[in-house]
Amino acid sequence: MRVLIAGRDGRVGSELVRQFDGIADVIAPVRRDLDLTDADAIISAVRQHAPDLIINTAACGVGAESDPDTTLAVHAHAPRVIAEEANRLGIPLVHYSTDHLFDGTKETPYVEDDAPSPANVFGRAQLLGERAMLRSGAPVLLLRVAWIYRVRDLTAEASYGGAQTVATPQKGSPTWGRDVAAATLQSLSALVGARGLGRDRLASALRERGGVFHMAGEGWTDSIGFSSMIASLASDLGGAVPLLEIPTIPDLPTHESLGCRNRQLDATKLARDFGVRLPTWESALREAWTQLEGQGAPHSV
Ligand SMILES: NC(=O)c1ccc[n+]([C@@H]2O[C@H](COP(=O)([O-])OP(=O)(O)OC[C@H]3O[C@@H](n4cnc5c(N)ncnc54)[C@H](OP(=O)(O)O)[C@@H]3O)[C@@H](O)[C@H]2O)c1
Repeated sequence: MRVLIAGRDGRVGSELVRQFDGIADVIAPVRRDLDLTDADAIISAVRQHAPDLIINTAACGVGAESDPDTTLAVHAHAPRVIAEEANRLGIPLVHYSTDHLFDGTKETPYVEDDAPSPANVFGRAQLLGERAMLRSGAPVLLLRVAWIYRVRDLTAEASYGGAQTVATPQKGSPTWGRDVAAATLQSLSALVGARGLGRDRLASALRERGGVFHMAGEGWTDSIGFSSMIASLASDLGGAVPLLEIPTIPDLPTHESLGCRNRQLDATKLARDFGVRLPTWESALREAWTQLEGQGAPHSV
């Protein structure tokens, strides 16, 4: 089994590379070797490597809103090109999308059938990408995720948590990239069962049972809850982790006064169809923090 992973250094991509090691032959080019804004480069990479599975985790970072051309290239055009090529060659495909397809004003968690209502460039581009992939006829598993973090994000969150909370009040399920990668592998295994991963088996299973799924950790919190738990982990366990200023959480404004964005994704379909459940956000965060401590002093923020 040969897997081509785009976005190898990202929160999800880096974990996929690690977790597929030993299960498959992993081809994971860095951006300068496979730039998804270049359609010809995508086509020649797929033809050259002839993968049995393509996983696309590439994402524009914080600059997405100020650079709409690149955002459209990465999140709308590249997924279309990848999917058309995958369809032509019968290659199964995993692609990640976002809660930003929704405007965040719904009171309850978003389900797969909710009508998209993107309120920014990033969400609109991702929606175009999703639609192109589904239209292409490629065997695709399209996983919508939200609020992903990696271990090294946590010190920044602890140090600047107050400022981030005020700037981006949100509620949802903070999800460790490691758990997204693990749940992706579990979903693929559930699709093929005991027969094991294989290109044709995955392709036919995805044609029958693939499509759009929401993926999120169990339980919900908001930015203040997330920052509060990090602050409390830092003070309970943080001897080894030097932190800058931990905000005084009780002094922060409440979400009600700020207008909180709803990023909750209801992952019931993933549990029902594949039996895959991610850990609660609290247990994942506790474990990620322990790993941060194990790494010693984190990078300075
Ligand atoms: N993080 C979240 O909270 C969140 C929320 C909703 C949805 N998602 C979706 O989840 C998926 C994974 O996100 P993530 O958090 O793992 O992303 P991430 O940590 O920001 O990593 C993105 C990766 O994509 C690469 N990349 C960016 N532009 C590229 C290009 N033109 N060509 C090739 N590679 C490129 C980056 O390369 P460099 O290392 O060179 O920059 C990086 O390795 C994405 O589809 C994202 O939209 C994430």
